[in-house]
Amino acid sequence: MGAPRTNVSLAAHTTLGLGGPARTFVEVETDDALVEAVREADAAGASVLLLGGGSNLVVADAGFDGLVVRVATRGRAVSSEGDVAVVRLAAGEPWDAFVAWSVAEGLAGVECLAGIPGTVGATPMQNVGAYGQEVADVVRSVSVWDRRDRVHREVPASECAFGYRDSVFKGAARGRYVVLAVTFALRRGGPPSVRYGELQRALGEAPPTLAAVRTTVLALRRAKGMVWDPNDPETRSAGSFFTNPVVTATQAVEVERRARAMGALRDGDSMPQWRVDGGSVKLAAGWLVERAGVAKGWTVDGAGVSRVHALALVNRGGTTASLLAMAAAVQAKVREAFGVELAMEPERVGFDRGHS
Ligand code: EPU
Repeated sequence: MGAPRTNVSLAAHTTLGLGGPARTFVEVETDDALVEAVREADAAGASVLLLGGGSNLVVADAGFDGLVVRVATRGRAVSSEGDVAVVRLAAGEPWDAFVAWSVAEGLAGVECLAGIPGTVGATPMQNVGAYGQEVADVVRSVSVWDRRDRVHREVPASECAFGYRDSVFKGAARGRYVVLAVTFALRRGGPPSVRYGELQRALGEAPPTLAAVRTTVLALRRAKGMVWDPNDPETRSAGSFFTNPVVTATQAVEVERRARAMGALRDGDSMPQWRVDGGSVKLAAGWLVERAGVAKGWTVDGAGVSRVHALALVNRGGTTASLLAMAAAVQAKVREAFGVELAMEPERVGFDRGHS
């Protein structure tokens, strides 16, 4: 375990480049050190923030009054069960490198999840998904340290309560588990998954390979500013800032009616929407934001809407407070235009002391 440091700025550890200092900051490279750091903090009654890639975090300008543990554990173990490759990865492994490796090895199951920033251990939290795949499809189990019962546990996928951008780790058991490793079941020689309309169109007619799907997804994401690049200020974001709202079928009809009435939809065009389990309908938050009158590139106090994707908010030299003010303005416009409430997707950190 590296030596704990005090008063470490968190801005440098988030893709948004925002956030005040952590009271204490430590980096851990082994599971034992990770568990030890969390145990000590728990015993002392200190708050703990586990930091992976910092790509889904909005940290308060006042910082985090507790211990930040940056998870830098590494390791990959592979075993075979027939044509299934069982791959166990340490929580601190970079996600995108795992996708590249899987594709190179001919292992199907994560090829559509290329270009997603962050670490493996964070992916089960919000059931990371894109272009028709989500980690829930391939997670077999999650190895955790249980802070409540002070034991190691292997949580099987069936107990992860995976849903759209949701899991037991984010929901019922929030804060209880420290993810140490994730075990995935990938299909050796399996076909790539091509379920997302936009991906299908971009791939064209030729039978797709895993590598072609990965490369195409990377190109699609890049065009939307969704591949984090420290040299490209337009990617200084947390990806999608809001989840896509899930509404009743009746509400979806009403939203489309309003869009048509305000001239946002031409005759013959329809609103993007997807049926989900139980007859509900998922709407495209980015589409709603744009149609509600939020222009791409709109910037106030250094916080802006991405120039290429209305669902990403970009830090253009502002503060967390200005970013959240922009988020609230976007939410208000969508509420006013469509009667739909947009929920923030990234995790908020350091806001429980009543200031931001
Ligand atoms: N759209 C607009 N204007 C925009 C952006 C999108 O009209 O500025 C329309 C698009 O034309 C399309 C629809 O909205 O008809 C959906 O857009 P897109 O395909 O870009 O996907 P999304 O729903 O905005 C979701 C995920 C992304 C993921 C993509 C691809 C959420 C919150 N976001 O975005 O995940 O990469 O699908 O599968 O579910 C993330 O979670 O951080 C993330 C980037």
